[in-house]
Amino acid sequence: MPQDDIFSLISDKQNMDRYQQLHWEGSFQEYLRIVEDNPNVSRSAFQRVYDMIISYGSETYEDGKKKITKYQFFSDPINNGKDAIFGLDISLQKLVSFLKSAAKRYGTEKRVLLLHGPVGSSKSTVARLIKKGIEAYSKTPEGALYTYSWVIKKSDFPDEMIIDTEEFDCPMNQDPLLLIPKEFRSDLEEKLNGSGRAHHEILIEGDLNPACRQIFSMLMKHYHGDWTKVVQHVRVKRLVLSERDRIGIGTFQPKDEKNQDSTELTGDINYRKIAYYGSDSDPRAFNFDGEFNIANRGVIEFVEVLKLDVAFLYDLLGASQEHKIKPKKFPQTDIDEFIIGHTNEPEYRKLQNNEFMEALRDRTVKIDIPYITKWSEEVKIYKKDYGQKRIAKHIAPHTLEMAALWAVLTRLEEPKKANLTLLQKLKLYNGTSLPGFTEENVRELRKDTVREGLDGVSPRYVQDRISNALVDERNHHVINPFMVLNELEAGLKNHSLISNEEERKRYRELIGVVKQEYEDIVKKEVQRAICADEEQIAQLCANYIDHVKAYTQNETVRNAYTGSDEQPDDRLMRSIEEKIDIPESRKDDFRKEIMNYIGALAVENKTFDYKTNDRLHKALELKLFEDQKDSIKLTSLVSSVVDKDTQAKIDVVKQRLMNNYGYDERSATDVLHFVASIFARGDTKK
Ligand SMILES: Nc1ncnc2c1ncn2[C@@H]1O[C@H](COP(=O)(O)OP(=O)(O)O)[C@@H](O)[C@H]1O
Ligand SMILES: [Mg+2]
Repeated sequence: MPQDDIFSLISDKQNMDRYQQLHWEGSFQEYLRIVEDNPNVSRSAFQRVYDMIISYGSETYEDGKKKITKYQFFSDPINNGKDAIFGLDISLQKLVSFLKSAAKRYGTEKRVLLLHGPVGSSKSTVARLIKKGIEAYSKTPEGALYTYSWVIKKSDFPDEMIIDTEEFDCPMNQDPLLLIPKEFRSDLEEKLNGSGRAHHEILIEGDLNPACRQIFSMLMKHYHGDWTKVVQHVRVKRLVLSERDRIGIGTFQPKDEKNQDSTELTGDINYRKIAYYGSDSDPRAFNFDGEFNIANRGVIEFVEVLKLDVAFLYDLLGASQEHKIKPKKFPQTDIDEFIIGHTNEPEYRKLQNNEFMEALRDRTVKIDIPYITKWSEEVKIYKKDYGQKRIAKHIAPHTLEMAALWAVLTRLEEPKKANLTLLQKLKLYNGTSLPGFTEENVRELRKDTVREGLDGVSPRYVQDRISNALVDERNHHVINPFMVLNELEAGLKNHSLISNEEERKRYRELIGVVKQEYEDIVKKEVQRAICADEEQIAQLCANYIDHVKAYTQNETVRNAYTGSDEQPDDRLMRSIEEKIDIPESRKDDFRKEIMNYIGALAVENKTFDYKTNDRLHKALELKLFEDQKDSIKLTSLVSSVVDKDTQAKIDVVKQRLMNNYGYDERSATDVLHFVASIFARGDTKK
């Protein structure tokens, strides 16, 4: 590619309009017109974060009779799903409720939001999403917000020294409306809130920061109290939040306990400027650059908040409860920001009775972020990580599923019902129906636990082990479930978070459970591949449908061979339905469902294709396999000589595994050998 083409790759995409929008500057009066037009530019931080999340839309679904709202924002649409959160809709719904109540000033705006959960449950990811979200939102027209700087030409003030530069940025990115004296605010508020354009009640809350207050009073004095002249020195600017530039987004991470210093939170004296302004108590000689200062208008994240030194506890509590911070030597300063902290569950437990916690407890809203206990959701984490990326190795079908299965098993508490295994409980949680268990039972199972979701293996451990298996030189070209399970097992030896031998032993045993489950799955899969002869299935399907139709309409079936009319054959229908666990009591429903489906298709002039109905398809395949399992001798695969005829049949099966089940040549060969060896083992046992 010639140089110019590469250059145009960039130049074609640059967007100068947008750049100019994001760098808009104007007078105070122009800003008032913007606010009048769109009062939302003056939202509180909570209101803005809430609106941001809502702006991505939501959907509701039912889970065990519970209505749950899923907010699309947490699927990370901004980053193509890179940080998508799975399986935590209920926790995230609580988080959104917290924000909604804070947006309406119902009380939670005075609380610290505390995400609490085991190590690696995605607490940091949730915080990161919110920070990225608010950053992106501030760049959109809907999420726009503004701040200002003072523009004061020295030549205009020959005798007075107001600022050391021609332009002095509001150090805490405050809303220009705070320049309006308190006595004039309510009229404006009324106007803004009466316009019908504000999403939430807009209030002009708080005072200018100490530096701006000082400049403001000096100018007021100079102009003998003429406020209109003072604001002529104000240049309003669009404010774009940016974590990197420390604008509106802060992160505080305690280092070791002795090294914490309040200036990191609330700012520090600028010694260079003291020389200029002559006093260390001059706010213009202060850097309002603590995390609380710079996070004003946006979000501050407290990583491992319980590791915060007690000395700063009051900074934190004041910040949340009063929306005020206390910079060294200066009066309390108003802030407007969403405070989100997180803590690991072990840390939290350790501190449960300590004074820090006592003080914190009723000033925080704690939201649990547990590990995922739904298998299909856990799988999504690993599919996201390893599913689409250009990975040089083929990941055999079921590999990520089995890793996830094990992870979730380690997290579940043994069911107290004697007739239920842990694996069965996991499947119930996963939405599989088991005879004799209702949704109500599943809810009871969930309730009947003590710490479920707080213990077990973290996704991070599984991710690390899958990565290990991927880079292991011994695993050429393919990684399969056994490689990953062995890797998961091997890592248990040095796992730092496993506290005792008993636990380690239990995790090992669960590896065995997963291997067994995998055997069952691939056995069935190969069976299905063996009998996936489409013509035969179609025929069986047509036959089944004839009988179902007659059954549901109280008619007879014409026997094609004898020509006589016969009653529908319940045994035939049941032999298929049983393959997919349709109980006798549900058979009428199932048959009606199928007929309705076919009927609906007929209205649209379409004919029924069994492939569009997964369950029926599977049932038909299994039935066919049962009818002909002896016609192909899979076990001969494990012997060294395979005759030509058998080899041809095996190649057909291999091809089906590749076409229909996601195998590649190698993994299909491997799995056929594996299943053959299971059958061989079974044969010798017999
Ligand atoms: N519910 C979940 N949805 C999506 N990914 C998750 C989930 N839980 C854990 N993860 C994965 O685990 C990793 C660790 O998450 P992290 O946010 O660092 O955890 P924490 O801060 O709770 O220790 C993340 O990179 C993410 O890939
Ligand atoms: Mg973390």
